[in-house]
Amino acid sequence: MKILVTGGAGYIGSHMVKLLTETGSEVTVLDDLSTGHAEAVRGAQFVKGDIADVASTKSLLQKNRIEGVVHFAASSLVGESMADPLKYYRRNVGGTVALVQAMRDAGVARIVFSSTAAVYGDPVRTPIDEAHPKQPVNPYGASKLAMERMLSDCSTAYGIGAVVLRYFNAAGADPSGELGERHDPETHLIPLVLQAASGRRASISVFGMDWPTRDGTCVRDYIHVNDLCDAHLRAISSPGVPIAVSVPRFPDSWYSRNPRSRSMPRYSSPSPPQRASP
Ligand SMILES: NC(=O)c1ccc[n+]([C@@H]2O[C@H](COP(=O)([O-])OP(=O)(O)OC[C@H]3O[C@@H](n4cnc5c(N)ncnc54)[C@H](O)[C@@H]3O)[C@@H](O)[C@H]2O)c1
Repeated sequence: MKILVTGGAGYIGSHMVKLLTETGSEVTVLDDLSTGHAEAVRGAQFVKGDIADVASTKSLLQKNRIEGVVHFAASSLVGESMADPLKYYRRNVGGTVALVQAMRDAGVARIVFSSTAAVYGDPVRTPIDEAHPKQPVNPYGASKLAMERMLSDCSTAYGIGAVVLRYFNAAGADPSGELGERHDPETHLIPLVLQAASGRRASISVFGMDWPTRDGTCVRDYIHVNDLCDAHLRAISSPGVPIAVSVPRFPDSWYSRNPRSRSMPRYSSPSPPQRASP
């Protein structure tokens, strides 16, 4: 297939581009490099640009005969979204309106959209499934929920097949060692822990020590970035009916069954420096 990956120079997008090209797709990346890195784009045509530019995106879709779009481009810092919500509504919602308009005008009828578990807000039950109430508690989550709703309406009106993947925390890197996670500022826990463990950061903050868990620290769930990309590949390869899917956290038993996690090294070195934060 001929696929456009928006945000393909970012963390998850660059892994997706690699998977798509390795499995035979012809890939174009559209990325404004606001948080991405051009050198992370492997085996695809890279176009620097903003998804908000309807005319340029439409012409790119037509020129490269794009059949489907995998849409990662977004601003995704929760704290920043609370300080500057308009940026999130403008870039995320406005950008996606423009992208879908370009798709409609160019006759591209398939999209897989990177949503987020932040659309659910504070969990009222776990595990969180698709029927869980959607009550985002920050503008980032609210902007993603608005995009989901807009895609659903556009799907009905224009016949665009949309798959929405709501995922929790992506982690890990391609085993080739060619790609990885490089955000600046970095806000994701695993890179922060690795920075602290390797002496590139003085400490990491542990937020709360009285959660109802074995050691009182909070629990987060993670999905390997390549498993996430595999889900996107299946979604873009499907006929594309409007659907929202929670990409779930895996139960503890999964870790012992999953070959990738079995092959992960077990570290016995001391914990990275930590400090308790409120
Ligand atoms: N990383 C996670 O754990 C996680 C979890 C849930 C959902 N998501 C979603 O997955 C997607 C990718 O996340 P990521 O961690 O790879 O982020 P990232 O910041 O590494 O990648 C986003 C990419 O989009 C590009 N971009 C942003 N706005 C753009 C625009 N208007 N036009 C063109 N390009 C633009 C950036 O330059 C960057 O390369 C985001 O939509 C995010 O909301 C991520």
